[in-house]
Amino acid sequence: MQFFYKDQKLCVGTLKSVKTDADSEIPTSGLSPSSVQLLDFAQTHKSPCYLYDMEQIQRRLEFFKSSLSFMKSENIHFAVKSNHNEKILNLIARQGLGADTVSIGEIRRAIQSGFHQKNIIFSGVGKSFDEISEAVDLGIKQLNIESPSELLRIVKICAQKKKPIDIGIRLNPRVAAETHKSISTGGADHKFGVDLTDLERVKTTLRQNPEFVKLKSLSMHIGSNILKLSELTEAIAILENHLREFKNDGFHLTRLDLGGGLGIDYFDYNLAQDEKLITEYANLLNQVHHRNPAIELMLEPGRILVARGGILLTQVQYLKRNGSTDFAVVDTGMNHLIRPALYEAHHQIWPLLKRQKAKKSYTVVGPICESTDVLATNVELDICEDDYLAILDCGAYGMSMASHYNLHDFPIEYFYQDGQISDLA
Ligand code: LLP
Repeated sequence: MQFFYKDQKLCVGTLKSVKTDADSEIPTSGLSPSSVQLLDFAQTHKSPCYLYDMEQIQRRLEFFKSSLSFMKSENIHFAVKSNHNEKILNLIARQGLGADTVSIGEIRRAIQSGFHQKNIIFSGVGKSFDEISEAVDLGIKQLNIESPSELLRIVKICAQKKKPIDIGIRLNPRVAAETHKSISTGGADHKFGVDLTDLERVKTTLRQNPEFVKLKSLSMHIGSNILKLSELTEAIAILENHLREFKNDGFHLTRLDLGGGLGIDYFDYNLAQDEKLITEYANLLNQVHHRNPAIELMLEPGRILVARGGILLTQVQYLKRNGSTDFAVVDTGMNHLIRPALYEAHHQIWPLLKRQKAKKSYTVVGPICESTDVLATNVELDICEDDYLAILDCGAYGMSMASHYNLHDFPIEYFYQDGQISDLA
């Protein structure tokens, strides 16, 4: 999302420069004519709500695709778990990307939103019998298996149906991404992927059932919100070694699925810095492409494509001081954005109106009856009760992780496009 202050009020729109922050005013010359002032919007709509900038998401998709122009767009599979809003999925499908899913619900949602089943891959450590069965019936592009038992289940289902399916093996490369421990997935003791010691069993099952399970790909996903590429580089090298071994063992693989994981700096709203990281990532993948020209590279990105494209708007209900802590109690919390409570994640919070009074350091909390319902601590704000706030970078793992805990309504999702905000996109 590109947003900025004009006359002390937060606006969304297209900027000529890409870096903005809560303390700066944008000169009018840097501004496109089609910006929208968010305070007017918030005052006339139910709070809280999510707001997505479709133009920003589109720009990010285009940048990502053009940085990876040596890959087919359909091999960039958007991780539906990061944002399963139908209008956003439809925008992504129209850009020609594929979809990475982890449940039959996500597969159905992806198809409803415009993805062809031939562009959908199915990952996840615990696929049920019924989920696999429906995926095989649909004829999706690839099932990424995560255990020898899962492969046996797939063989059974495909044999019953007399219908084959393309398989990827998600390896556990024993390389964990350096990120928050709760979103690191590639370590030896993580539940994800096939343990390297199980590969012979998997190969045996594949050799015994060539008419039902066709091994096409090795896959990996070592973690999320990755900001430096060293562990990814290491894990890719391990995957490439296994690719050679599989080939030597007589398997004809044509794909390498390198997962998702590229992150953003939640402390710095800096779209140019994101683009720099994407470019470094693309250089790394380009080298893999050159080393393996006959192999199609596949990806499963989520956050890097949509995180910057969404904010959560909320209204301050009460300001109070308990002990030595100043609280701003707002009308959204861990029920609508669980990342701070679950991973100690940081999201910047900006006021929709800068009052130019003395700032105070607030702990911003939600209405949920849990002490962990804290959205942010030490936020310097100049606010009054009833003021509105924007919580930044909520386009990924925001609404898709929302729950009905305490039975508050879900936030409505709105879309900014062509200088207007509406619930249509
Ligand atoms: N592929 C697989 C197999 C995954 O498990 C994930 C994310 C992705 C791709 C997409 O990863 P991304 O590019 O978005 O990093 N809720 C957490 C993130 C959990 C990620 C789970 N898997 C958060 O809010 O930070």
